[in-house]
Amino acid sequence: MKTLYLATHNRHKKEEIQNIFGQHPILNQAFRIEGLDALDFHEEIPETADSLEGNALQKAQYIHQKFNVDCFADDTGLEVSALDNRPGVFSARYANMPDNFEETGLASPESLQMPDPTFDQNIDRLLFKLQNKPRQARFRSVICLILNEETYYFEGSVNGIILNERHGNQGFGYDPVFQPNGFEKSFAELNVEEKNAISHRGKAIQALISFLEKR
Ligand code: IMP
Repeated sequence: MKTLYLATHNRHKKEEIQNIFGQHPILNQAFRIEGLDALDFHEEIPETADSLEGNALQKAQYIHQKFNVDCFADDTGLEVSALDNRPGVFSARYANMPDNFEETGLASPESLQMPDPTFDQNIDRLLFKLQNKPRQARFRSVICLILNEETYYFEGSVNGIILNERHGNQGFGYDPVFQPNGFEKSFAELNVEEKNAISHRGKAIQALISFLEKR
């Protein structure tokens, strides 16, 4: 059995991804997905690129070079139509962004130095900025895999709307205010299997799985 390390400290991401692999009839015999705790690594991973692809590569490369292991990383952004697809790559730091971020899309050096805000602070800014605006949005995930010294990318996205208020308490991040198209529930009202079946990360992982199946 081959171990693939997931370059994240986010336990929700790890749980979602392990759930998908665990249910696969063949790959669950061939691959074990481990988090960074299995490497006893608890430091922050730098995430300073200006695209999801760049950040996914940076995170995967960092762990690959430090531990010489096969690994993959996911980077996700929430792209809101009325905000010119922002916060995008700055989704985790949205509440720290400068006041004119929605207009310029630019972070400031200070905003990048600050510790990440809480999920609630990010949601509060989003709801405030979207008052009386169209609510269409999408999540986009990019996975970077480093396997046998080769680098591969996989992507997934899901369209939906930003709700006016929070619903549900499962999941993480912006889940309580994101309602996928065709559903009457937010992501935070779906269990992990239901979310994985339609989510950005679920689709990106399915693309990764199709690739691994062919090898
Ligand atoms: P990152 O990929 O860890 O950099 O995530 C960027 C931001 O998007 C963080 O604030 C996350 O909480 C949020 N995020 C990432 N994936 C999801 C998701 O599946 N649902 C809701 N929010 C997410």
